[in-house]
Amino acid sequence: MSTVISVEEFLKELAADNERYYDALPSEQKTYWPSRLVGEAAIEALKTRWFNEYIGTIVLARLIEKVEHPKLKLMIARQVGDEAKHAQVCVRRVQQLGGRVEDYEPLPEQIHMYQVLDSYEYPEQFLAAMQFTTEHEGVRRNEQALTRFDADTAQMFRDAINPDEPFHVQLGWTGLRILCTNEEAQERARQACYGQRELHREWTLAYRKRMKERGLL
Ligand SMILES: [Fe+2]
Ligand SMILES: [Fe+2]
Repeated sequence: MSTVISVEEFLKELAADNERYYDALPSEQKTYWPSRLVGEAAIEALKTRWFNEYIGTIVLARLIEKVEHPKLKLMIARQVGDEAKHAQVCVRRVQQLGGRVEDYEPLPEQIHMYQVLDSYEYPEQFLAAMQFTTEHEGVRRNEQALTRFDADTAQMFRDAINPDEPFHVQLGWTGLRILCTNEEAQERARQACYGQRELHREWTLAYRKRMKERGLL
């Protein structure tokens, strides 16, 4: 048995749950870039980032079609444009550093996370998982780019990526406020959020392992 709780109460509880989850992670799992990255390491880290921006663009574009609410549709469309721009600036930076994204091998765990997002039938599942949870946490992580990469790469994050992220987080909150007005939707969003935290953790661990094996971390 459970009872419907107000949307605001639901959001507050879910945000607090996320906060507890991320606080409890060991410090090396709170970052994508544990140390300063140069040369091959920077190129590989940026290629990994490029893939996330690229595949994120594609699955988000499909989400537009699953959303009925006109305001949400447009907010998601705006995010699609942001993520496409992020992918483009990453490609350019990888090239400037002497690498190429065409030979990037996505990690199976990385692809899996996006497949799960893409498989969600209800938009509140996607928004709870990605925007409300991963992107909320990502705002902190993206700040680290400013000190972990060379000056020009840091500038790219500062100018072309980081300023867009608060809007994506806001879309998560706005979307859940609109969609999670009943018990079923709230439970769907909650479960998607819990699942996403683990899927995100799994792929970032796989990324870290591969970087270490290649002597890049
Ligand atoms: Fe992005
Ligand atoms: Fe984003």
